[in-house]
Amino acid sequence: MSAPRDCIACGLCQGRQNVVCPDGDPDSPVAFVGEAPGQKEDETGRPFQGRSGKVLDKLLEEEGVPRPSIYITNTVKCRPPGNRVPTKEEMAACLPHLEEELQGRRLIVALGRTAARDLLRREVRLSEELNRVIKVTIRGNEIDMVVTYHPAASFYNTRVKDALRETIRIARTYLEDRGSASSTGT
Ligand code: URA
Repeated sequence: MSAPRDCIACGLCQGRQNVVCPDGDPDSPVAFVGEAPGQKEDETGRPFQGRSGKVLDKLLEEEGVPRPSIYITNTVKCRPPGNRVPTKEEMAACLPHLEEELQGRRLIVALGRTAARDLLRREVRLSEELNRVIKVTIRGNEIDMVVTYHPAASFYNTRVKDALRETIRIARTYLEDRGSASSTGT
């Protein structure tokens, strides 16, 4: 269960137009977690609709991963004023919803340092941990996770795009695994 549409758990409720609920396949083994909604997301109530979303959609398509086959969410569900980074307190207020959303996933993709920090509860150096499968414990369950760049970091940097492509290829293997598991009835 994501944040309710009338959520008032933190101050972000004051400036929002919409609570931005997760998108994609609710049963997907793979969840992508972004930082926070921006203007377009706030207007539409859907994650990754603006410029970052366009980049993400294009890379997913180029790597043969249909966007509807993954689950997409954010650390916080309401837009921080001026698109600032959400505070620790705001992320903590939204964490129960995020943890609930991630139950049963096989792979979590943290898009950017803010999402990675929120989930791992420690500092993260993307350059050191980029695209390595690590374990994260969520409500007592170990789940594979990769940390990667936020799509916004790719606007002026093609190497970041290449890293994101690699991330999506990793995600694809988890989606393919599900395909073979269901076709053998396991
Ligand atoms: N950036 C994010 O981190 N999330 C969105 O939903 C949109 C932009």
